[in-house]
Amino acid sequence: MFSDAFRHKTVWLSGHTGFKGAWLAHWLLALGAKVRAFALEPPTRPALFDMLGLATRLDHQIADIRDAAAVKKSIDQTQPDFVFHLAAQAILRTSYDQPEETYATNVMGTIHLLQALRALRKPCAAVIVTTDKCYENREWIHGYREEDPLGGYDPYSSSKAAAEIAVAAWRRSFFAGHSVRAATARAGNVIGGGDWAKDRIVPDCIRALQSNQPIPVRNKSATRPWQHVLEPLSGYLWLAARLAQAPAPDPLASAFNFGPGHESNRTVVQLVGEVLKHWPGKWEDRSDPKAVHEARLLQLTTDKAHALLGWSPVWTFPTAIEQTVAWYRETSNRPQAAAALTSSQIERYQADAAKAGLPWAVI
Ligand SMILES: NC(=O)c1ccc[n+]([C@@H]2O[C@H](COP(=O)([O-])OP(=O)(O)OC[C@H]3O[C@@H](n4cnc5c(N)ncnc54)[C@H](O)[C@@H]3O)[C@@H](O)[C@H]2O)c1
Repeated sequence: MFSDAFRHKTVWLSGHTGFKGAWLAHWLLALGAKVRAFALEPPTRPALFDMLGLATRLDHQIADIRDAAAVKKSIDQTQPDFVFHLAAQAILRTSYDQPEETYATNVMGTIHLLQALRALRKPCAAVIVTTDKCYENREWIHGYREEDPLGGYDPYSSSKAAAEIAVAAWRRSFFAGHSVRAATARAGNVIGGGDWAKDRIVPDCIRALQSNQPIPVRNKSATRPWQHVLEPLSGYLWLAARLAQAPAPDPLASAFNFGPGHESNRTVVQLVGEVLKHWPGKWEDRSDPKAVHEARLLQLTTDKAHALLGWSPVWTFPTAIEQTVAWYRETSNRPQAAAALTSSQIERYQADAAKAGLPWAVI
């Protein structure tokens, strides 16, 4: 798996107390990595971080990415072989209420990490996670390519575009001929067990179904590239593994989209319908004409990841939903089963990827 790139290697991971970071920490530990993790306290209760018992399984630091000295000290002490930067103010609607904090975390936090990496004198492959929302959204029916103009209507999306621009500038200005190689990763709306964030449709579905209430649907006809959390994470891991091997000058030290196949570009209401096949219930239209702006149509092209990394999505939309709902249903009454269930979903994903002949899963 992943050319065994992570076994006994030191990985610095930010955002491990959040949804995607907890899945990535669990997967990295299974791959034999030594993980040093950096984040604020879990942003939700419950939190996947707690359910997976991560506090005792990795070297765990509660710290603020807005604190440049703390980031520098953590990177200096860790001397990582790999870096995955996921810490962010990641909720679009929150960014309307807290635009300055969103920029401080997402832009200056990324710059603090880039500055800390400049001091490293050993090879290090860094993957900085942004989002599909970093593109200037034209409400196109076709997918965005990595070369398309960056932008972002709202503070969250534009802060991630600014982080992209910062990484590109640091790469040109400071990482040419340096031992650090930095890539960025842009992925779409992620679903999977263990997300309890507010204002995200799958957690909204689960909260409603658990309390026998109709699912509140705010934005029913918005179309998103839904994908299981393991899809972008396999992309981040394989990008980092390949980045660590690639000779300079390095086409992999650049931006990559990781999105699902066309059949996963579905409306919110189609997603809710698929969830209800596995956990019967009702939904109701809570469209608010005064709601803040959110893009209606957003898709990614993943030709670059396919051509340069041999990466492709593994699970279909129905499988992603089925796995997601199964995770919540099985842990509803048995939260102590979360770690074993998460491991078994990772194992199934790896086996399906190997069956599909994806390089990361067979090497
Ligand atoms: N979930 C999605 O659908 C999605 C889609 C595209 C991109 N992303 C990106 O993926 C990454 C992870 O997203 P997520 O869904 O796991 O988010 P999340 O909100 O669940 O977790 C965010 C993490 O960042 C940490 N964090 C926030 N502010 C911090 C600060 N000032 N200092 C240190 N740590 C801080 C939190 O403690 C938490 O560990 C983010 O960069 C996000 O923008 C997520």
